[in-house]
Amino acid sequence: MTPSLSFKKRGITLSGLSVELQGKRILDDVDLEIFPGEIIALLGPSGCGKTTMLRAIAGLQRPSAGEIVVGGQAMTDVAPYRRNVGMVFQSYALFPHMTVAENIVFGLKMHGVAPAERAVVLDAALTMLELSALRDAYPARLSGGQQQRVAIARSIATQPSVLLLDEPLSALDKKLKDDMRSELRTLLKKVGMTAIIVTHDQEEALAIADRVAVMNEGRIVQIGTGGDLYHNPNCRFVADFVGYMNYFEGSIRSGSDQRLELDIGDARLLKARSSAETPATGHVTVAIRPEAITPMPKSAPVDQDEFNIVPACLISEEFLGIVTYLRFQDGKGRDLLVIRSGQSRASPLRVGEHYDLAWPIDVTTLMPAEPQAA
Ligand SMILES: Nc1ncnc2c1ncn2[C@@H]1O[C@H](COP(=O)(O)OP(=O)(O)OP(=O)(O)O)[C@@H](O)[C@H]1O
Ligand SMILES: [Mg+2]
Repeated sequence: MTPSLSFKKRGITLSGLSVELQGKRILDDVDLEIFPGEIIALLGPSGCGKTTMLRAIAGLQRPSAGEIVVGGQAMTDVAPYRRNVGMVFQSYALFPHMTVAENIVFGLKMHGVAPAERAVVLDAALTMLELSALRDAYPARLSGGQQQRVAIARSIATQPSVLLLDEPLSALDKKLKDDMRSELRTLLKKVGMTAIIVTHDQEEALAIADRVAVMNEGRIVQIGTGGDLYHNPNCRFVADFVGYMNYFEGSIRSGSDQRLELDIGDARLLKARSSAETPATGHVTVAIRPEAITPMPKSAPVDQDEFNIVPACLISEEFLGIVTYLRFQDGKGRDLLVIRSGQSRASPLRVGEHYDLAWPIDVTTLMPAEPQAA
């Protein structure tokens, strides 16, 4: 029988969590509920507090306010090594003078686990992460991907109920990164461990996590599945962080039960479906994903009840293999990006020509207008 590791699924609840460092609010009143066995990605720009949040959960950083509960137990007064939380640091932090096997059992030794039991856990971890052939190798001769697997094996050897991973893939090149991210998700799901993975790569976040929390300046701005964030971002910051977006600033001119008309200047009206969150009047930002837009020849008939149309001139075309980026400019000088599948060879477009950019009213997203920069 293959030895195996066992993990208890535990949820994490953060309530009103704040961290202050040198008088500065680094984490600002964060609430977050993570279900047992769930993988959450923290996605956000450099300096927004991602590492600080992991450090607080691991007990390496004392919060200035708020509570951390893991598996129903308040962690405030629990020492880091008693929290049953594993952490994989960005740099892997392997011990260079220890072999792969010695690195993996290090935590168990520290916990006073007997040698016979350590051997069983080691075999299980080596098998699980396909490292058996490298058990006597030193970190210096391992590839980035292998070092990452050792770092994960070491952190799960103590069978933590929660695994925290701080940019675990950032040191890898693109190809290896793409392979490792699906391996990482498969592994975490196989053992059913609750995990938080920090990244500033949106693709990585969407590929690995069940839900993604987008962070900015110490706060969680929005949390949801990749689909939620992509199709219903609650502000420009989120929309821009999970892909490209085109925007028009406009004001609501008229509204019926289901449909709004938006004045975007230049004697042009756009239509959008109204929802419970849509304001009835005032300024709004209209957002459209670039792949939702189809450039049509000027004479082509378009169903004006179902589509929005903005005439624009094709400024440049960038062929990138899988997709082609088409940059347009409308009569008011607004830049619009259209992304087409690289395989669509139908009707080549010509730079310098004018087209009607059309997109379905259904995919026209409304969000609160951005405060104007002073
Ligand atoms: N010991 C410290 N003292 C004062 N400020 C700190 C300390 N550690 C971190 N900070 C500040 O806290 C903020 C958040 O840091 P943190 O490391 O959590 O960001 P991050 O989101 O992980 O960024 P990155 O993506 O660059 O790793 C930053 O502005 C940083 O300068
Ligand atoms: Mg960090």
